[in-house]
Amino acid sequence: MGLEERTQKTGPRPERPHARADWKQMVGIGVVASILGIAAGLLIDWFPIAASDEAKPIDTLWDVLIIFSVPVFVGVTVVVLFSVWKFSMRPGEENLDGPPIHGNTRLEVIWTAIPAVILVGLCTYAFIVLEDVEAVEGRPMEVRVVGEQFAWTFYYKRGGNEEVASRELYVPKDQQVRFTLQSKDVLHDFWVPAFRMKKDAVPGIDVTYTVTPNRIGSYPIVCAELCGLGHAVMRSTAHVVERPKFDTWLSELGQPAEEEQGGGGGGGGGGSGETDGKAIFASENCGSCHTLADAGTTGAVGPDLDDVLADKDEAFIKTSIEDPEAEIADGYQGGIMPPNYRETIPGPQLDALVTYLSEVTKGG
Ligand code: CUA
Repeated sequence: MGLEERTQKTGPRPERPHARADWKQMVGIGVVASILGIAAGLLIDWFPIAASDEAKPIDTLWDVLIIFSVPVFVGVTVVVLFSVWKFSMRPGEENLDGPPIHGNTRLEVIWTAIPAVILVGLCTYAFIVLEDVEAVEGRPMEVRVVGEQFAWTFYYKRGGNEEVASRELYVPKDQQVRFTLQSKDVLHDFWVPAFRMKKDAVPGIDVTYTVTPNRIGSYPIVCAELCGLGHAVMRSTAHVVERPKFDTWLSELGQPAEEEQGGGGGGGGGGSGETDGKAIFASENCGSCHTLADAGTTGAVGPDLDDVLADKDEAFIKTSIEDPEAEIADGYQGGIMPPNYRETIPGPQLDALVTYLSEVTKGG
């Protein structure tokens, strides 16, 4: 009986009453939702602490983007949801036509022109900010950043043309630094969130960008381009330090630190003269991938060292660190351990690390 009734009702759908009130209601909900959305967007702390001069204009740009884009998103969503709720077909209207609308030129011009103006304005603003943060003042300090599966290596010029390598980034506060990004294999992406700067390292091409760190502290460095199995562990640390501390660090970088070697350790230095194997294990972050009972680490990315090194001599351990691909433990995948330790851990430290690993894994 109900069906009969429905099939007989055809022809244009009658104009709904209260159409004007509905329209006002929709605009009202849209405005309120947009204001709430913008407030939430500005209140949320999207980014980590800012540690460079470039961070401020970039964060401001982000806020402006939120202010303009949230109402667009909220506006479209509100219209869609409101229409579904208010104007959807009621039972019994299945065979009725909608109102005969043939477009609305004025409305279409408005909803094309407004986004176009917003888009051109935001692009212009973003371009100005980009020019601003990329401007080079005077002579920046040069750091060559080399990405490879799966490690970063930082090269510094010292004295004349001597180049020294480090696995962690050190930069002096308030010194503009120009990074030259290179890659040995695939695409990587050098990203220090606290600096807000991020660019791809492309094989065969030098990519540069400048940053002026302005806050003392240590900040994560992340590879932001999916580059293979070890992508997630391709991390390092950026240290922003006072100028004198940086100079000392650079002068000691990669030095054999012979004085400390005979003296039995205990030097309070920045790590480069360290010959305590356990401390090196910690500072090189070996434990983030490897389990080692003596160091209290439980990493599971690479082999459990207590297990795989129990019957191995120092020569094997040294080879495994210098050339991780030489022999891959059963059940593990090659190509994940950083291949640059040979270059970045000075000889005496590497030996100390090897001795330490050999000693603590022979449980007895
Ligand atoms: Cu390198 Cu991801």
